[in-house]
Amino acid sequence: MHIHRSERIWLTFGLAMMAVFLATITTAAVVDGIVPPSNVQTIDPAKVSQTPPFDHPGLHKLANGSYEAYYVAHIFSFEPHHLSVPLGAHVTFYVTSTDVEHGFSVPETGINTMVTPGWVSTVSHTFTKPGKYLLVCNEYCGAGHQLMADAIEVR
Ligand code: CUA
Repeated sequence: MHIHRSERIWLTFGLAMMAVFLATITTAAVVDGIVPPSNVQTIDPAKVSQTPPFDHPGLHKLANGSYEAYYVAHIFSFEPHHLSVPLGAHVTFYVTSTDVEHGFSVPETGINTMVTPGWVSTVSHTFTKPGKYLLVCNEYCGAGHQLMADAIEVR
């Protein structure tokens, strides 16, 4: 088979770029210890329902007046199914998955993180506007992905 010289140069360039990208990702993951975004802790995905505080998902008030919300994502829903948040509350969300990669996104708030099994994703937000917020999974996670939505009510 004859390959034109220009095409051979272009193919070599393309393959070299792929090799560079792969080496970059591998270096970042292995050498620099890069982990999924906003993850600070690890958790055994098979034991989430027995691991406090994920054994009681929901909103918890802290002594300093702020809040922590613990969420468990699994195909195809979130726990808790509904969250009631007082107006003005500063909430730090801790989210983990028991099965596959999910997303945790509340449009128009800046809350948006990947949820990786084995990791706890963290994201914070201060709810200054009352209303019903939509919480959606924005990572394709299977046949029921489009059903994976929930509500956060601020009042
Ligand atoms: Cu969970 Cu898409």
